[in-house]
Amino acid sequence: HEHEDHPHASKKDMAQHVRRLEQVFTLTPQRMRMIVDAFIDTLEIGLAEAGHAVPMIPTFVFGFPKGDEKGPFLAVDLGGTNLRVCHVELEGDGKFEITQSKYRLTEEQKQGEGQELFDFCAECLASFLHDQYGDEDGNLNLEDDIALGFTFSYPCIQERIDQGVLLRWTKGFGAKNVEDHDVVEMFKKSLEKNKVPIKLTALINDTTGTLVSSHYVDPKTRIGVIFGTGCNAAYMEKVGNIPKIKDLGLPEDAEMAINCEWGAFDSEKHEHLPRTKYDITIDETSNKPGQQAFEKMIAGLYLGEIFRLVTCELIDDGVLFLGQNTYKVEKPYAFDTAFLSLIESDTTDELLLVTGLFTHFFQLDTTIPERQFFKRLAQLIGTRAARLSACGIAAICSKMGYVDDGCHVATDGSLYNKYPKFPERIHEALVDIFGEKGRGILTHHAEDGSGVGSAIIASMTHKRKQEGLY
Ligand code: GLC
Repeated sequence: HEHEDHPHASKKDMAQHVRRLEQVFTLTPQRMRMIVDAFIDTLEIGLAEAGHAVPMIPTFVFGFPKGDEKGPFLAVDLGGTNLRVCHVELEGDGKFEITQSKYRLTEEQKQGEGQELFDFCAECLASFLHDQYGDEDGNLNLEDDIALGFTFSYPCIQERIDQGVLLRWTKGFGAKNVEDHDVVEMFKKSLEKNKVPIKLTALINDTTGTLVSSHYVDPKTRIGVIFGTGCNAAYMEKVGNIPKIKDLGLPEDAEMAINCEWGAFDSEKHEHLPRTKYDITIDETSNKPGQQAFEKMIAGLYLGEIFRLVTCELIDDGVLFLGQNTYKVEKPYAFDTAFLSLIESDTTDELLLVTGLFTHFFQLDTTIPERQFFKRLAQLIGTRAARLSACGIAAICSKMGYVDDGCHVATDGSLYNKYPKFPERIHEALVDIFGEKGRGILTHHAEDGSGVGSAIIASMTHKRKQEGLY
């Protein structure tokens, strides 16, 4: 029902705002191609020397798995929202079994003392092991040398597979005394404190895990991408094409996975991305101003907030919610990206899901034109995110020569899995960029990279060590 007692902005006003927003949020094919070109240069520069915004991190994951990796493994996955502990049994034929527990991270853990965050990881692992594999005397029924992979999805500069110094927190994390520290060291300390008798063998990024675990089941996989709380990609590079590690003396034709950390694209000079004033506000009010410019326009942590900032502007201008109390929607980050998914999925004539959302969460009544406006706004923000992501994928594909023969892009994260039409919009954008050839680049939902990928990498590492390789 409509509350006709609220005065409404005229239709004309609303239409003008829609046109303005369409202009600032729409990416033309030409603009995308310019972004792709700049992106390719950025990838190359990151490989050439250390210290650039997009760090192109060598991961010390050498090549793809053979598919015969076998045995039990453990994985601890510290993502952007949850902590997960997994036991993975690789069966050696591309199949696996997984047992897992999930724990929600609190804001205190994200912002508090860093060592306590790792203590929490170790405590969760200890209680998982105890519940699943402990006997009455507190002994664990586990293989003696079971290996643990630690999926820590933040930029870490690595010198080996079982070490990594946190370059900077991303995704709103700010725990103290972790940046510039070796996170493996810190986690090991917590494992010891909690008497967890497990060997940490590999530190991995979720994108690398996704790349590797998906290749385990689909050998056409060339790129792993995460569209979750954050956004990032990994792919396999020839060692000879990574000038910044030439001093390590690794064989030139060996392959190593690169964790791009592409979320940082265009953070240095802001010369390529079409940032709006809303993007600038998000950046300036974040705990890391001036960082992750690309990620802040795409990832799940931010899309709802972009939507909210536009909405608040139109409230201030007297266009939306006239005469109503809007304090609930004025609270920063009050608008979850899941709400955007819901708005976009509303196909009822009167947009009743949107009605319910605003009454339920914000105690606000909406008119049909307002709801149509919100749906259009969600489309604009969601489409821009998908098209920008496509630019990153296109850049890797161009640089690596994957366009002509096509390739598979393994993709995971709530935005990709739950946001309506997100995959379709990426594919459409790839055709806008490359023409018909763009149809050969196919994204698909990945295997569990952070859990299974971590196990596979732990297994690959174990084998390499046995063979006496680097
Ligand atoms: C952020 C992190 C990156 C991670 C991505 C997806 O961009 O910096 O390491 O892969 O989020 O979780």
